[in-house]
Amino acid sequence: MFAVHLLAFHFTKLKEDQIKKVDRYLYHMRLSDDVLLDVMARFQAEMVKGLGRDTNPTATVKMLPSFVRSLPDGSEKGDFLAVDLGGSLFRAHEVKVFDDGKQSSQLESKFYPTPKEVVQGNGTELFDYIADCLVDFMEAKNLKHKKLPLGFTFSFPCKQTKLDEGFLLGWTKNFKVRGVQDTDVVVSLRKALQKHKDIDLDVLALVNDTVGTMMTCGYDDQRCEVGLVIGTGTNACYMEEMRHIDLVAGDEGRMCINTEWGAFGDDGALEDLRTEFDRELDLGSINPGKQLFEKMISSLYLGELVRLIILKMTKEGLLFNGKVSTALLTKGKIEMKHVSAMEKYKEGLSNTKEILTELNLFPSEEDCIAVQHVCTIVSFRSANLCAAALAAILTRLRENKKLLRMRTTVGIDGGLYKTHPQ
Ligand code: GLC
Repeated sequence: MFAVHLLAFHFTKLKEDQIKKVDRYLYHMRLSDDVLLDVMARFQAEMVKGLGRDTNPTATVKMLPSFVRSLPDGSEKGDFLAVDLGGSLFRAHEVKVFDDGKQSSQLESKFYPTPKEVVQGNGTELFDYIADCLVDFMEAKNLKHKKLPLGFTFSFPCKQTKLDEGFLLGWTKNFKVRGVQDTDVVVSLRKALQKHKDIDLDVLALVNDTVGTMMTCGYDDQRCEVGLVIGTGTNACYMEEMRHIDLVAGDEGRMCINTEWGAFGDDGALEDLRTEFDRELDLGSINPGKQLFEKMISSLYLGELVRLIILKMTKEGLLFNGKVSTALLTKGKIEMKHVSAMEKYKEGLSNTKEILTELNLFPSEEDCIAVQHVCTIVSFRSANLCAAALAAILTRLRENKKLLRMRTTVGIDGGLYKTHPQ
């Protein structure tokens, strides 16, 4: 019994020491409440800048009008097709919406890979691929004879002047397709679909994934007026008063604004918060200097951040007896799925040991505790930053309504949000 206590005491002490060591090392990544309130205030100012006619051209947070003016009210019905490009997989869906007194809908989906040749190739190939996948889906679901309206979820910043048009402002995440920037992606999709003489579809609407998330959630909950995605990338949208949207004529009612918050900080607004690891990650990415807020938050980047941190700690002799492995030196070797596994309640430490061993590091118990804590700090900062920007949006919504207190709903989606253990 005494031995068991001694062992437990030893482990607790070991753990405390490792956690303190990492906390000290990553001091700059642990954001205090004051700093987060400041981030919130900076984001509030960015939103105002993005909405203003004269300030929008130089704003980094683009605050893009979506031309979605209301949420579903339950009276919608019919059969629809939808395609979704921008996450880790390409998706095709059939959506049936019934209007039978109580709202209900049915969704059937098929997932397709998005190989590097497609997401870093040329535009024609990309849109042909989307059309081919859609035809495959219609074949599988026996829908080819039907003329169905098509929704296009395209999760990249687009300048819209109506619902079924969108000029790509620039690629984000791991996409870099030639010849698409500044062109209307709806036109390109229509062209690709017209090559298939055996189907007849028209693109009804182009929406960002955040807008799709808000609308889906709004279908079940009338109070939903914010959409948030934390997945491969991160972004949010919300319902803004038309009178505040300088770029769209008219003052009546509201319109959903796609904030494109991933670009927050691209003008240097977050330089005091970015660490040497954030800078290194950015320099090694396909879009240096771009999407700096996103690079501190979303799943495409968190694994790499963890790798860069533990690599430096190892080089300084703080981990693995100072022995670096080739795998640890290799970009992309630690992914979000590993970070999540290492942070899991109960199995986390044994997962950490397994993952580090696979990287040819020879982790001691201390190493595992320290690396697990590195993951926690990186994930925690991601959640904190998201919360700060979300708080800015919610405060703006409340102030727009001239309320002191407000009850609202945020629709949330994205792989990181759905699978992170904490
Ligand atoms: C990137 C895209 C944005 C999208 C987000 C989440 O930030 O630019 O449009 O909403 O990723 O997928």
